[in-house]
Amino acid sequence: RGLAPELAARYVIGPGAIADVVVEAARYAAAAGTPVDASALEASIGRRLSLRLGTFGTVVHRKARFAEMVLPDDVVDTLHDLIAMVRERSQILERWGYQRHLGISRGVSGLFSGEPGTGKTMAASVVASELGLELVRIDLSAVVSKFVGETEKNLGKIFDEAQDAHAMLLFDEADSLFGKRTELKTAQDRFANLEVNYILQRMETFDGVSVLTTNAESSIDPALQRRLNFRIRFLEPELDEREQLWRRLLPPSTGLHDGFDFHALAERFQMTGGYIKNAVVRAAVIAARAGRAMVAEDLWAGAHHEYVEMGKVMPQLPRGTL
Ligand SMILES: Nc1ncnc2c1ncn2[C@@H]1O[C@H](COP(=O)(O)OP(=O)(O)OP(=O)(O)O)[C@@H](O)[C@H]1O
Ligand SMILES: [Mg+2]
Repeated sequence: RGLAPELAARYVIGPGAIADVVVEAARYAAAAGTPVDASALEASIGRRLSLRLGTFGTVVHRKARFAEMVLPDDVVDTLHDLIAMVRERSQILERWGYQRHLGISRGVSGLFSGEPGTGKTMAASVVASELGLELVRIDLSAVVSKFVGETEKNLGKIFDEAQDAHAMLLFDEADSLFGKRTELKTAQDRFANLEVNYILQRMETFDGVSVLTTNAESSIDPALQRRLNFRIRFLEPELDEREQLWRRLLPPSTGLHDGFDFHALAERFQMTGGYIKNAVVRAAVIAARAGRAMVAEDLWAGAHHEYVEMGKVMPQLPRGTL
């Protein structure tokens, strides 16, 4: 009914595929005793997409929202620009004539760079959820083949499938493929070069959003970086951001939020959100092993363990915290 036009606009799939999706959604809904509604159909399209992607990619189901993220204002602002470029694409490119005048293509692309655990992958999922797009995370190690021409074929298939399903593409940890294009040493490098050019070309013509993430921005050729629409640096969180991360990542059900000195923890341990998340999980493990609810000391201990595993020098803990 009201749903059909919206689904038709979002997914470019043929009658055969539509029939498959509807039948499959109905089967799932019947088994679960739920109605065949928009979310049931979306889930079915997601399952079909992940089947067709095979080992090359996975559909990311758990997407974050802006409210869950702790980021500096300028990063949030640039993410909103990226989202706006997708939403206002028709206006900018067609009505305002940018496509004709500057030869800008429809693809919207981004490069998210920064230290491990700064939220690059999470931010990509926020963009997908804001835009209501399926998010496909590509495993580049599965895609890159040592056989000449094979990688392009694999990549071509991915872009085609993503286009059909209106999915956003995430080339996570893309460094492996995007070494400096100028440093050609072996035949392997030359193939990688062809592949990089191929990806860029497809990102530009891809009628959708694609994001690359990397820990090593400097390993990516500046000429290549320029060809991407948005380049966002994810810096390590400052003290007050770390405090917010601790507050946000610790589940409210622990009952520790009132009265706990998150500031002291943030001050003592310089770590990114990814490590803070690990520390919070570690604290839960410690509490569970001890067969009791989590206490403040568990958080300190979790942070301590995580810090040591990061290879950082152990900071002096306040007396009595461990
Ligand atoms: N800026 C942030 N705001 C809120 N949570 C964060 C942030 N950064 C990291 N986290 C938490 O840490 C987890 C891991 O972050 P994420 O995987 O996005 O990091 P990453 O930058 O992609 O790291 P890597 O380079 O290792 O892939 C997130 O799922 C989230 O729970
Ligand atoms: Mg990541």
